[in-house]
Amino acid sequence: MKHTKVKELLNSAQTLQEVYVKGWVRTFRNNQFIALNDGSTINNIQCVVDFENTPAETLKRITTGAAVALKGSLTESKGAGQKYEIQVTSLEILGDSDPEKFPMQPKKHTLEFLRANAHLRVRTNAFGAIMRVRSVLSFAVHQYFQEKGFVYVNTPVITGADAEGAGEMFQVTSLPLDNLPRTEEGHIDYKKDFFGKHTNLTVSGQLEGETFAMALGQIYTFGPTFRAENSNTSRHLAEFWMIEPEVAFNDLDDNMDLAEDFIQYVIKYTMDKCADDLKFLEGRLLEEEKSKPQAERSEMTLLEKLNFVLENNFKRVSYTEAIDILKNSTPNKKKKFQYIIEEWGADLQSEHERFLVEKHFKCPVILYDYPANIKAFYMRLNEDGKTVRAMDILFPGIGEIVGGSQREERYDVLVEKMKTLGIDEEELWWYLDTRRFGTAVHSGFGLGFERLVLFVTGMTNIRDVIPFPRTPGNAEF
Ligand code: 4AD
Ligand code: MG
Repeated sequence: MKHTKVKELLNSAQTLQEVYVKGWVRTFRNNQFIALNDGSTINNIQCVVDFENTPAETLKRITTGAAVALKGSLTESKGAGQKYEIQVTSLEILGDSDPEKFPMQPKKHTLEFLRANAHLRVRTNAFGAIMRVRSVLSFAVHQYFQEKGFVYVNTPVITGADAEGAGEMFQVTSLPLDNLPRTEEGHIDYKKDFFGKHTNLTVSGQLEGETFAMALGQIYTFGPTFRAENSNTSRHLAEFWMIEPEVAFNDLDDNMDLAEDFIQYVIKYTMDKCADDLKFLEGRLLEEEKSKPQAERSEMTLLEKLNFVLENNFKRVSYTEAIDILKNSTPNKKKKFQYIIEEWGADLQSEHERFLVEKHFKCPVILYDYPANIKAFYMRLNEDGKTVRAMDILFPGIGEIVGGSQREERYDVLVEKMKTLGIDEEELWWYLDTRRFGTAVHSGFGLGFERLVLFVTGMTNIRDVIPFPRTPGNAEF
């Protein structure tokens, strides 16, 4: 007999004579009531054990974390808050879980403790919910683009290119680090390395993505990216997943429209599919916020925040307007910002982004037309000669969630820019070919998947929305 998922049983249209389930014991009360979870839903099914006719030896082995298989009948429950329960007729312990040693006891654990036990934290309600939401969100990403006819492209993980020009890369090498081959001049001889050149883990699939957009029209990537930036913050991972659509013939306004529509779609999709999980996460957030001072609590519940994003257009603001707002803002005048905004050209820090989104506009904001010299080399120069067609989308509680731009499609302008920045033309010969042969206006963006999961789950630390986080000093599991 094949076992049935708990989710299916809880949604059953009628009571059932005989059912068979397998799962893990969450709690066992009064020597009688098992709360059983099998991961198919946040909801446990109550299984009532006939304790008078069950050997004491077996009852003792029904402990939190144990894997069990049981048969019985699905009956209407007399207990509050559940429609059905299982009257157990036979029970088998599949795997014991020593209650003295199993770390995930049914009590409140700190998020730090759970991070140290990332291989077991997924057995808690909160992490089960987060990981199901993450899974549905990633399916929604594919659904959105596939419905629109985008082609999914798998760009390389190992590359010679530094797409962002930020130099925050993990090197990939098979050279012996304690005995490096040297050239006559004494430099490391990368010709002897595995790929015959210096390589690193990708920071972005954009440049390769652009080459595909210039043939397939509209493409997207969705894969892991790596950044060796030593920022130990609640928003940065060394390994994170990025979604990067790229569309031929789209200008920056089209790019903004696409990003906004895409984000609203995946949130809506997930709200429809993950109602139970999101309801649980909403409660978790309310509980967590009770320990905060009133002023730091959010004005909206999790579902209200998600609905707000669906129902309101993102506010589009140029960098220049944003600088004016920031310059005249109270925290700037009272020197409350760590970085005071003195003049046009300043790079925006997350404190500034969050002020704009959370205090000033109180809605998602798309900032565009940034100064050329604080943005990447591939962004299209505006007619003013000093700003580029860049856009960042800023979200409440998150800060930057999307970074994108219209690309510099003019060969001469692009080469000139690369020269100024000292970017090797020969290294990027293939990228420049897109501008040599059939160049056209095109645009794209990158959405940090974990930042999206943070927003949708209401979690506050990015380490809690990826199964096994990679951060400075931590690569356990
Ligand atoms: O703004 P970024 O650096 O843009 C790019 O990489 C472009 N090539 C994208 C494109 O136009 N195709 O990164 C894009 C997004 C950020 O907005 C942020 O959400 C996320 O990636 N991100 C990170 N997420 C987690 N940890 C990090 N260290 C991140 N760095 C960027
Ligand atoms: Mg960025």
